[in-house]
Amino acid sequence: MTQDQIMKLISSMTLEEKAAQMTQLAPVNFGFNCVTPLTGPDSGLRIRPEFSASIGSVLNCGSAEDMIRIQKEHLENDPHKIPLLFMADVVHGFKTVFPIPLAVGCSFSPENAREAAQIAAEESSVSGIHVTFAPMADLVRDPRWGRVMESFGEDPLLNSRMCAAAVKGYQGSKLSSPYRTASCVKHFAAYGSPEGGREYNTVDLSDNELYNSYLPAYTAALEAGARMVMTAFNTVDLIPATASEKLINDILRKERHFNGPVISDYNSVGELIEHGAAENGYEAACKSLKAGVDIEMMSSHFCAHLRELVNNGQITEQMIDKAVLRILNLKNELGLFENPFKDASREAEASIHLSEKNREAARRIARESAVLLKNNGVLPVSFSGAPEKIGLTGPFASSPYILGGWSAGNQTGIPLYEGLCGRIPRECIRLEDCGQIGSCLEGNPDIPAPDASFYARFKDCGTVIVAAGEHQEDTGEGGSKAFLRLSPNQEKLIQQMSHSGKRVILILFSGRPLEIAPIEPYCDAILQAWFPGTESGNALAELITGAYNPSGRLSISFPYTVGQIPVYYNHYQTGRPKRQESTDTRYVSRYLDCPNEPLYCFGYGLSYSEFHYSNLQIRNSSHSLTASVTVTNVSDITGCETVQFYIRDLSASLVRPAAELKDFSKVHLTGGESKTVSFTITKEMLSFYKDGRKIFEDGYFLIMIGKNSAVTLKQKLYITEQQFKKETL
Ligand code: NOJ
Repeated sequence: MTQDQIMKLISSMTLEEKAAQMTQLAPVNFGFNCVTPLTGPDSGLRIRPEFSASIGSVLNCGSAEDMIRIQKEHLENDPHKIPLLFMADVVHGFKTVFPIPLAVGCSFSPENAREAAQIAAEESSVSGIHVTFAPMADLVRDPRWGRVMESFGEDPLLNSRMCAAAVKGYQGSKLSSPYRTASCVKHFAAYGSPEGGREYNTVDLSDNELYNSYLPAYTAALEAGARMVMTAFNTVDLIPATASEKLINDILRKERHFNGPVISDYNSVGELIEHGAAENGYEAACKSLKAGVDIEMMSSHFCAHLRELVNNGQITEQMIDKAVLRILNLKNELGLFENPFKDASREAEASIHLSEKNREAARRIARESAVLLKNNGVLPVSFSGAPEKIGLTGPFASSPYILGGWSAGNQTGIPLYEGLCGRIPRECIRLEDCGQIGSCLEGNPDIPAPDASFYARFKDCGTVIVAAGEHQEDTGEGGSKAFLRLSPNQEKLIQQMSHSGKRVILILFSGRPLEIAPIEPYCDAILQAWFPGTESGNALAELITGAYNPSGRLSISFPYTVGQIPVYYNHYQTGRPKRQESTDTRYVSRYLDCPNEPLYCFGYGLSYSEFHYSNLQIRNSSHSLTASVTVTNVSDITGCETVQFYIRDLSASLVRPAAELKDFSKVHLTGGESKTVSFTITKEMLSFYKDGRKIFEDGYFLIMIGKNSAVTLKQKLYITEQQFKKETL
């Protein structure tokens, strides 16, 4: 359709039809069973008949068959024959499930995020999905929050690169092309910072913090072309994000020039009343429309009050027309007016879902996302053969429920045991199941306590793999937790196993950093598996047996204890930092009963190889400023190292973080090999937002290159704006 045709169509619509176009309902509201669980209220929407024929979009319908039926029925009834837009949460894969985003962040490979998103778009588009509610660009620093799993982590740069890559993966270069879905970046803004880590809770940040830490990843997703934005449930500066003119109209539309549709989160328009930010549905609709929301998800205040709002002069019909135009433009760009079913096809579902190619990608990405946290030489397992066996136990030893939150319902992944059997003869593995772990909601988040006879069953095993963690349902939306330790009986299992003289390899399944300091001393090796997806067992078996050398690096810090949270590497320096050389042990910024540092910091991760850093050099020529380092693989095992480049602005008009990741590079090194890795220092890297404006200030900077955020080579350098004559911000 041309713009003129779309404008003409809009002018032929009644206000009721426009309100319906701006409303999103679930299949259940169209008389269908919901394939995926609803994450909020679904009744009481009271959509009157004059609206129901003209609804604009559908939430979380997950199969070609349902989509085709709903779309057909809709087109028969809609007076204007405007196709429905089908949107869904395709967060880390659709049928082929990839590791959770927090894990993909650990691969430090934007290409992995792109490829996972591209495959997710292929698989979901053939099931009739046009828009995916991903990526979640919320920066996260609090592992008590269940949704840390859905973020790429605690760092603005890593988060930005991953989100931009994911958007490109979903969308490709043309939305109407086969197997492409539009990307809806969420949740605008700062949903990742709820007080106390409690779901939906208040977010309170300074503007400088919002601009410097939280906005970059959303902005990167928009710059990569994300076509939609979702608001957030939380308040920012005491205004619910869904009613925030500052966030939507000012920051998103005016500053970032975003002109696509903005959708509320699930019932977040209605929730303005609960927040105490609107007296009733009329006011809730008014405030969110004024703020710039175009589509109301799973509440019906637009339908109920739009006419009255226009009649009372609160909202102009031009505002409504602009919102409808944005929605219809997206439908048009997806080619829905010509082909309302787009890629939906049962035959395509059969050939594309879980294809060999897709599973292979999932396996590779899972391998690259796991992080080796500890290894005293027990990994990779060296297996001397009969009569010795490798022990395997723990609630995740043979469990297929290892996909994590947002993994489309009842799908399963390859269990660890099955994967190991592909690499070690089955008869050489002593699998002893110790029971499943329940979820907190079910009220039984622990395994039964193993008795003495249980340990005796491992008598012919020198090494025992314990696959422990948290229930996948305890992660994702509504998955906040105040305690992050492993359940008591899992901790006992690890301790007892170690006390009984076994070498213990802990494989940790979780959607967040857990508090593992209490059991770390009893483990000879710890591999953080996260929730690795469909190919879980196969990928982990490759790492455990050394077929693949671990290369993941943490995208989020592991707290030493919950009491440290939030603990993140790019914190601000206090006026009384704790220094190694300081003799004052009291009047400094420290805990009396625990270290300031996390147990494992951002960027941390081991390999079966060992890498050595030397020779940090800064080169300052007339046309560029570069920092380089020599990285040597001092082992005889080929491996991959993620070289990390950090900067600290030593004196500025705003206090700047103790370190900020500015670039990274993955290098493959054979045993004994050395490579020089260089980073170009740009003006952009040294700049920051102050009062909403990006500025550069001359001064001293600390240049740091190293293997993680805590272990770097450092050099101080005075840098002036003159240096970057040609670069504009
Ligand atoms: C609520 C979640 O916050 C959001 O991320 C999701 O996209 C919607 N529900 C739809 O399922």
